[in-house]
Amino acid sequence: MLSYRHAYHAGNYADVLKHIVLIEILAHLVKKDKPFDYIDTHAGAGLYHLGSEQSNKVGEYRDGIARIFEQSDEPLFESYINAVRSVNPETGMTYYPGSPKIASQFLRPQDRGWLFELHPTDFATLSQHFTHQRQVKVAQQDGFQGLIGLLPPVSRRGLVVIDPSYELKEDYSNVVRVLLKAVKRFATGIYALWYPVVLRERIDALERELRESGIRDVQLFELGIAVDSSERGMTSSGMIVINPPWQLKSTMDKMLPVLGRVLAPETPNLWRNETLVEE
Ligand SMILES: C[S@@+](CC[C@H](N)C(=O)[O-])C[C@H]1O[C@@H](n2cnc3c(N)ncnc32)[C@H](O)[C@@H]1O
Repeated sequence: MLSYRHAYHAGNYADVLKHIVLIEILAHLVKKDKPFDYIDTHAGAGLYHLGSEQSNKVGEYRDGIARIFEQSDEPLFESYINAVRSVNPETGMTYYPGSPKIASQFLRPQDRGWLFELHPTDFATLSQHFTHQRQVKVAQQDGFQGLIGLLPPVSRRGLVVIDPSYELKEDYSNVVRVLLKAVKRFATGIYALWYPVVLRERIDALERELRESGIRDVQLFELGIAVDSSERGMTSSGMIVINPPWQLKSTMDKMLPVLGRVLAPETPNLWRNETLVEE
């Protein structure tokens, strides 16, 4: 149990899409002064050293964030590159920020952050990164349970990021059950669910369950680096967003073809931007 460590994958093509969507949503939330809550149910370690043994075992970041950095003239990547640059020395790329470190760059004094992480080592690292940011609470607790306990947040405005490692097959159905419960308590929240495509049937089932769940206003963004295959591990990944900010779909319509060309030059068209359920 809990054998997944995000340090092996930080900055890969899946993180790129996930964190670009995250930044677009956070940029939308800070347009108004009204406070919001950021809830990260599976937070990871917060910050990753790209020179570490784990990062370099397969070196996934080289086909992810490293390729984006090579395209730093691309205006669509500006906010994302800035978020990564802000955790690095002036030149070079030594660190990659996880979702909590990216989100914390957007939190203003009136906002709150809630981070859940079960793995003892990653929890300890994560806690160290936030000891001086008192508006952010870090808990070594099951994020699915922790989430429900926080809803609805006092601010009545917020983003919930659900990014499980899917080590357990049940996670695919657990996420739908938890989303349903969460949306019942906090219907106006923005929810972003990450998923990997390892076996396409699992994602087809996840999409079907969401379509039939009664939840409204659901948009899916996906990027693949190879055609579906049950033998190659993860070939695509995506973010499913409930109550997406109104301009997210059109931004991702511009972003996804560019991401396809940069991250998957041999199969640039394996992306999706689809409405699973209308408003
Ligand atoms: C994919 S990683 C998170 C990456 C992070 N969200 C990011 O984008 O930088 C998933 C994390 O969830 C943790 N985890 C697994 N099951 C959990 C649970 N039930 N509650 C909270 N954390 C869990 C794992 O230890 C792992 O660090």
